[in-house]
Amino acid sequence: MQSIETERLILRPFQQGDAADLFRYLQAPTASCFLSMKLADLAAAEVEVERRATDAGSLAICLKQTGQVIGDLFGEAGADEEDETASVGWNLNPQFGGQGYALEAARAFFEHLFHARGFRRLYAYVEDHNIPSQRLCEKLGMRREGVFVEFVTFTKDDAGKPIYENTMQYAILRREWMAKGAGLGALA
Ligand SMILES: CC(C)(COP(=O)(O)OP(=O)(O)OC[C@H]1O[C@@H](n2cnc3c(N)ncnc32)[C@H](O)[C@@H]1OP(=O)(O)O)[C@@H](O)C(=O)NCCC(=O)NCCS
Repeated sequence: MQSIETERLILRPFQQGDAADLFRYLQAPTASCFLSMKLADLAAAEVEVERRATDAGSLAICLKQTGQVIGDLFGEAGADEEDETASVGWNLNPQFGGQGYALEAARAFFEHLFHARGFRRLYAYVEDHNIPSQRLCEKLGMRREGVFVEFVTFTKDDAGKPIYENTMQYAILRREWMAKGAGLGALA
């Protein structure tokens, strides 16, 4: 996949040499939905980088100035290609939160998914306690379509019973993205 350039960022496929940066934020994922991605050590990060490097739906978010990988984005097509639908997600190294990087990256990514990849509908699952991610969805112009109550579990309580989370679905159609001009300013 081609690289995407924004004002402060480069979005590009993962590549050899990214393991240390990926490990920095995946040694302790902050979002419950990414707990299963937790990396034990640098060797595990190297394997994960190798896997991501051949995953067309996965992009590293890099700082233009330093080249550091500060997070990642994914856009996975559903099993039925005729749906032209993809689920999207984001994960930022917390050190780089609160600076608008996630919004800048996601805008450019949506622009790419709608126009270069031809998706018709993008959706995201967000747990009800994940306010930063909900805010990001809203800034991207996504509509909150509903809440699935006790939908999914990522953790267990002390007795070993699954803790179920309430999950919101946000979505946006290509025609809504275009009408809102949501991608304006996404690309440098
Ligand atoms: C969800 C997540 C990507 C949001 O990251 P973020 O940095 O809060 O999001 P944004 O890029 O929109 O930045 C927003 C903040 O940057 C501030 N900001 C600073 N400079 C800015 C700029 N140039 N442009 C825009 N916003 C800017 C905004 O004011 C806002 O601050 P506020 O939160 O105090 O209002 C991040 O919290 C994360 O990776 N969480 C862990 C993984 C996760 O939860 N993934 C989603 C699972 S559903």
